Amino acid sequence: MKVLVLGARGMLGSDVMRAATDAGHEVRGFGHTELDITDPEALRSRFELDRPDAVINCAAWTDVDGAEDDPEGAQLVNGTGAGNASAAAAAVGAKIIYVSSDYVFAGDKGDDYVEADQTGPISVYGQSKLAGEVATATANRRSSIVRSSWLFGINGPNFVNTMIRLGESQGQVLVVHDQVGSPTYTWHLAYGLVRLLDSDEFGIHHMAAAGSCSWYEFAKEIFRLSQMDVVTLSATTEMFGAKAPRPARSVLVSANEHAIQLPSWQDGLASYLAQKQSVEATAAESSETERGK
Ligand SMILES: NC(=O)c1ccc[n+]([C@@H]2O[C@H](COP(=O)([O-])OP(=O)(O)OC[C@H]3O[C@@H](n4cnc5c(N)ncnc54)[C@H](OP(=O)(O)O)[C@@H]3O)[C@@H](O)[C@H]2O)c1
Repeated sequence: MKVLVLGARGMLGSDVMRAATDAGHEVRGFGHTELDITDPEALRSRFELDRPDAVINCAAWTDVDGAEDDPEGAQLVNGTGAGNASAAAAAVGAKIIYVSSDYVFAGDKGDDYVEADQTGPISVYGQSKLAGEVATATANRRSSIVRSSWLFGINGPNFVNTMIRLGESQGQVLVVHDQVGSPTYTWHLAYGLVRLLDSDEFGIHHMAAAGSCSWYEFAKEIFRLSQMDVVTLSATTEMFGAKAPRPARSVLVSANEHAIQLPSWQDGLASYLAQKQSVEATAAESSETERGK
C-alpha cells in the first residue's frame, strides 16, 4: 500500500514511518516544513502527485499549556488542518487515520472510557483535538480516529527522559498522583496504527497501552527499572498550577469488536528504556570512533 505520513518528523510520526516501512508498505513522510497541513492547496497538489492509498496524520499542535494562550493557533492545526488533510485524502480516494487524544474527555467518569462515551474536553488543546476528529470524519467517509494517551518514544522529549534527567541532576522529584492514564510507547502505537491500515473498520478506535497508573506511579517505575535511587514525592495537580486543566482519569479502553490491543504500559516502558540504552550506546561508540580518527 502507498502510505503518506503527515507530521513524519515528530515523536510518533518517525516511529510510524519505520513501522509502516517494516510492514512492507511504500512510505513517504513529510515534516512540518515540507508539508504544512494548514495549507490546503499544498496538501491537494502533494496528494495529487503521490496518489497515496492511505494517509496517517500525526501532525499536530501538541503544546497543551501553550494552546491556552493561542486557541486560534491550536485550532488551525489540530482542527482545520486535520480537516484539510482528510479532504485532500478523500479527493484522491485515500483513507485517513487521525491520531487523537484522551484529552477529548473531561476525566470525571470515574471509570475507563470507551469509544461511545460522551466527550467533554476541559482544555483548549482537547477542544482542538475534538474539532480535528469531527473535521476528519466529516471530510472523508473512509476515516479512522485513533485516540491514544500519554505518549513517550525515542524521537521526542517525553516524561521518561524528563524524570531521568531530573533524577540524575537533583536526586529527587515531585510528581502528581491525582492524574491517572495509560502511558503509551509510540513504537507500540505505531505498530497498532499500521495494523489498522489493513482494516476497513472506520470510525473511532481507542488504542492505548493496557493498564493504567498515575504520573507518580509511572515515575516510580521509571526509577525502579533504571535502577536509580531517586526520592519521589507525590504532589497534587493544584500544587503544580499548570495553565491547562488536565483530565483526572482518562484511561482509554476499546469496546470495538476487532480492537487492536497494545502491550501494557510496563512492557512499553521496559522496551523504551532498552531502546534508549542501545541508541545511547551506539551514539557513544560513534563519537569514540570520530575522536579516534
Ligand atoms: N504526546 C502525547 O502525550 C500525546 C497523547 C495523545 C495523543 N497525542 C497525539 O499524537 C500525535 C503525535 O504527537 P507527538 O507526541 O508525536 O507530537 P510531536 O512530536 O509534537 O509531533 C507533531 C509533529 O507535527 C508537526 N506539525 C506541527 N504543526 C504542523 C503543521 N501545521 N503541518 C504539518 N506538521 C505540523 C510538528 O512539527 P514542528 O515541531 O516542526 O512544529 C511535529 O513534528 C498528535 O496528534 C497528538 O495530538 C499525543
